[in-house]
Amino acid sequence: MARTHVPVLAGELIELTDPARGETAVDCTFGAGGHARLIADRIGPGGTLVCIDRDPAARERFEEMAAEVSCETRFMRMEYSEALGLLGEEGFEADLVYLDLGISSMQVDARERGFSYSYDAPLDMRMDPERELDARAIVNGWDQRRLAQVFRRYGEDPNARIIAREIVRRREATPFETTGQLVDAVEAALPAAIRRRFGGGHPAKRIFQALRIAVNEELEALDRALPAAWAVLRQGGRLAAISFHSLEDRRVKRFLAERARGCICPPDMPVCGCGRTPEAELLTRRAVAPSPGEVADNPRSRSAHLRAARRIEAGQA
Ligand SMILES: C[S@@+](CC[C@H](N)C(=O)[O-])C[C@H]1O[C@@H](n2cnc3c(N)ncnc32)[C@H](O)[C@@H]1O
Repeated sequence: MARTHVPVLAGELIELTDPARGETAVDCTFGAGGHARLIADRIGPGGTLVCIDRDPAARERFEEMAAEVSCETRFMRMEYSEALGLLGEEGFEADLVYLDLGISSMQVDARERGFSYSYDAPLDMRMDPERELDARAIVNGWDQRRLAQVFRRYGEDPNARIIAREIVRRREATPFETTGQLVDAVEAALPAAIRRRFGGGHPAKRIFQALRIAVNEELEALDRALPAAWAVLRQGGRLAAISFHSLEDRRVKRFLAERARGCICPPDMPVCGCGRTPEAELLTRRAVAPSPGEVADNPRSRSAHLRAARRIEAGQA
């Protein structure tokens, strides 16, 4: 039986963002609704919780949750930056917006969706199965340089070039259809000596992460979502994000730091020319990491980082 998803850094998210009775919250990454339920209990009757997920499978879990909680609920089955843009156009104002990035345990465990190197399945990896681009199209269609770039940038894989070369060599004879073929290619590209040298678990792990990020355009979505989330926050509203790798965490950190700093003039400018003033108070100076107990109970939480900030009136540092 498929695992359900255990929400990561849930207590820390609640403690930092402190949702109150009657508040309005947006969960950008509903998944199995683990965080959403906790937030719903805090905002209670009179509160409103908007839940977003691009995966159609999340809708059923949302319906179950909505029937059990006392706040108003709404589900938006779309890409979160798009949903936040729509909420902004509606004039929606939130006290809390949060994102729990990446994929859920249910998505990994749904073998046929091809997210995992542990099962042989079609090369898919789309969170939204209605989108055109899937992992098969990337692996068979992108040129060697672009593949290597994806593996290096999104997987931080030191063997990106030789793996891309092996993929291109193999696909000339037989196009890739399954995750198993991809795992074979990665293993063949890396002699045991190289695998030992670089360590870091299964040799296909970074390649699967990289492809998933590329298929779902995860970093582009995050870059669009952060300003869209900020735009729907009212004064005093909180924005929080849980990241699972440095590419995400860096973006969140920079975004929040820029709002907390205000001025974006180069440090050598004698006087400020941009006129921007601080509009955020950081709730986390450093990213919050899971406790050793949480990591022991839920190894998936190991790489999690939580950052949060409160929106303040511009000019009130
Ligand atoms: C880590 S899971 C969230 C788990 C959830 N917090 C819980 O406690 O059950 C991430 C979820 O966000 C969704 N997701 C990721 N990127 C998205 C995007 N750009 N737009 C909408 N949903 C997205 C995924 O489909 C997945 O269900």
